[in-house]
Amino acid sequence: MSASQNGSGLTKGSQSETSSSLTAASKNGSSPTKGSETSSSLIVTASQNDSSLLTGSKGTSSLRAASVKGSSLKRPSKRSWTPDPLDLVNEKTDEQFVAGYLQHSTKDPSPWVTAWTHPTTGVKYDICLKQPANLEEDELNACFRLIEETSRKDYENSAQKWHPKDKLKEMRSAELRYILVKEEETGEIHAFTSLMPTYEEGQPVIYCYEIHLKPHLQGTGLAALLISFLTTVAANLPPVIKVMLTCFLSNARGLAFYKKMGFEADGISPVPRILRFGKVFNPDYVILSKVIRSPSNGAGISDTDTSSMNGAGTSDTDASQ
Ligand SMILES: CC(C)(COP(=O)(O)OP(=O)(O)OC[C@H]1O[C@@H](n2cnc3c(N)ncnc32)[C@H](O)[C@@H]1OP(=O)(O)O)[C@@H](O)C(=O)NCCC(=O)NCCS
Repeated sequence: MSASQNGSGLTKGSQSETSSSLTAASKNGSSPTKGSETSSSLIVTASQNDSSLLTGSKGTSSLRAASVKGSSLKRPSKRSWTPDPLDLVNEKTDEQFVAGYLQHSTKDPSPWVTAWTHPTTGVKYDICLKQPANLEEDELNACFRLIEETSRKDYENSAQKWHPKDKLKEMRSAELRYILVKEEETGEIHAFTSLMPTYEEGQPVIYCYEIHLKPHLQGTGLAALLISFLTTVAANLPPVIKVMLTCFLSNARGLAFYKKMGFEADGISPVPRILRFGKVFNPDYVILSKVIRSPSNGAGISDTDTSSMNGAGTSDTDASQ
């Protein structure tokens, strides 16, 4: 049974097996430089993996956006009595989410913090977590402008192209959580990441939708801190086995950063292939992941309070659906 028939908010039953590759394609973010050594090694790794689910990226945003819209949380009636663990997590308030999944990591050295100081300028920043429903319109727009500032060119140069309306729609997906980094004095957002507990090809993951830092915050250790929050959530959420994200292959700095953070090309990452009439499809993005726990012992590895998750041990890959 396809992964898309399981689980959470985005991968919904009506989509085919290719949906996750498609949806993943719509989660790109990037930076400008082209094809570094890092990126080629990632490509090689990716191409060594089986990727029969590969598909073109055309129409990805709309598919992703459509699945986000709302009905995606509906379960087949047969299982309606079994709560899906990630749905339950996605229903938590922001306070519950922080308390349950960011506060007491047993494995990660970076616990949740709400303040951060720039190591060289000494400027102070506040950190907070919000789901889109709790974001001010100004905050959402500031995040959008930051994506535009750091990555618009990469979208424009990709097969996916830059579609501001689709991007904004995706950014409003209810199950996302934003971690905002605001300059204390001005309240301006200078960096953010967004994440979602979801399923990709049947794998329960924390998907990193975006991570963007204004240039003066790059190279300061802040990006590593933000990524560590995502691994903390994953470590505290037993069904989740990986942190996953999508990166343009042209984003050499991003690829190098993720490699340093322990990410590798995932088995579902697309590989080049020959289409009909000899046309060659060369993916311009890679799906990266960092394994947090093995699927088999998923429920047992964290000693955090799983009771708060009401059924966290339930497997997403319940093929009985
Ligand atoms: C991609 C991105 C998030 C990576 O963040 P980054 O800060 O540039 O990451 P870097 O690895 O370059 O910076 C880490 C560097 O910070 C410095 N650093 C780390 N911890 C530090 C600390 N505590 N104090 C001072 N400096 C520190 C180090 O120089 C480190 O490099 P090193 O590990 O080689 O020594 C960022 O460049 C960005 O926002 N890019 C634009 C948007 C984008 O492309 N997003 C990704 C979409 S997929």
